[in-house]
Amino acid sequence: MSLNQILDYVADDLSEIESAILHHIQTDIPILTNVAEHILAAGGKRLRPALVLLGAKLFGYDGKETIRAAQIIEYLHTATLLHDDVVDNADMRRSQKTACRIWGNEASVLVGDYLFSMVFYMLTELKNLEVLKTMSDTTTLMAKGELLQLTHSHESMDEDKYLEIIFNKTACLFASALKIGAIIANAPDESQQKLYDYGMAIGLAFQVVDDALDYMEEESKTGKSIGIDLQERKITLPLIHLLNSASPEDKARVNSILAAEIITDEHVHEVIQMMKFYDSTMYAVRVAQKYTNDAQIYLKALPASPIKQMLNDIANFIVIRHF
Ligand code: IPE
Ligand code: IPE
Ligand code: MG
Ligand code: MG
Repeated sequence: MSLNQILDYVADDLSEIESAILHHIQTDIPILTNVAEHILAAGGKRLRPALVLLGAKLFGYDGKETIRAAQIIEYLHTATLLHDDVVDNADMRRSQKTACRIWGNEASVLVGDYLFSMVFYMLTELKNLEVLKTMSDTTTLMAKGELLQLTHSHESMDEDKYLEIIFNKTACLFASALKIGAIIANAPDESQQKLYDYGMAIGLAFQVVDDALDYMEEESKTGKSIGIDLQERKITLPLIHLLNSASPEDKARVNSILAAEIITDEHVHEVIQMMKFYDSTMYAVRVAQKYTNDAQIYLKALPASPIKQMLNDIANFIVIRHF
């Protein structure tokens, strides 16, 4: 099944989540509502909410508690995007100007904080201690991941550190989304763990592909600018590969670009050409494929069902996606 067919399968629940998402950001503070609406109404794949739903449906759950849990996960994702775009100095998100470009960094950070507070308020209303614990572990790991990233330059970064960063900042939210679904469905602990491991693996693959797409000008349909990771001197897997495999001259050139006062679009273009020559983005895609395979192996331990097949297909989608 394609991602769209899978999302269609949970379309009724997703549209309920969509209304709730937009409803709960209506406040009497215009800038708060405007910023939140700007990013939330711009769409986004809603992959994480779908994973909450599928994680529960895999164990036969058909109730309504997952709607609120999925909304919470999307609010947390949105809060981190608002903060992340400030940290990354990003221009574009979801094919439109970032909130920080329109309303400034202060407003973006504060609206991110508000959504983050909503997450924990709504979690207390859910009255499920296990879900609360999973979410509070996750938010801690995510903050650590973004901070770890901030403190590494190209001199101190290597593949292991990179993987640790993306495990924290991205993969654990995928893992938690699925686990929360399984908790709500009262799935056995071992199954919850398998689903969590599957989520970690697709989350790693997802971020690796995101980082590859950042250097793929022809293919990228993410609605974000190309080359921003390089311009922000964020050292991701394609660049780590390039630095490890380039000739001494090419490596010196990349290092000089990284040391430039401003990294221009021409610099980005030059690095993209080198990545093509050294196969660096394709290397990243192959690493993502390996995590996808791991994810599919974790799934094998779970009972066969059409939902399990969908999770299997989502893992495949993550590697071939361009958006
Ligand atoms: C963007 O996530 C942040 C990353 C972890 C790379 P998505 O690509 O899922 O963003 P939306 O929600 O679809 O916009
Ligand atoms: C993922 O990293 C960000 C979060 C986990 C919030 P990126 O910085 O690569 O995400 P994008 O590319 O801005 O969406
Ligand atoms: Mg970013
Ligand atoms: Mg990115």
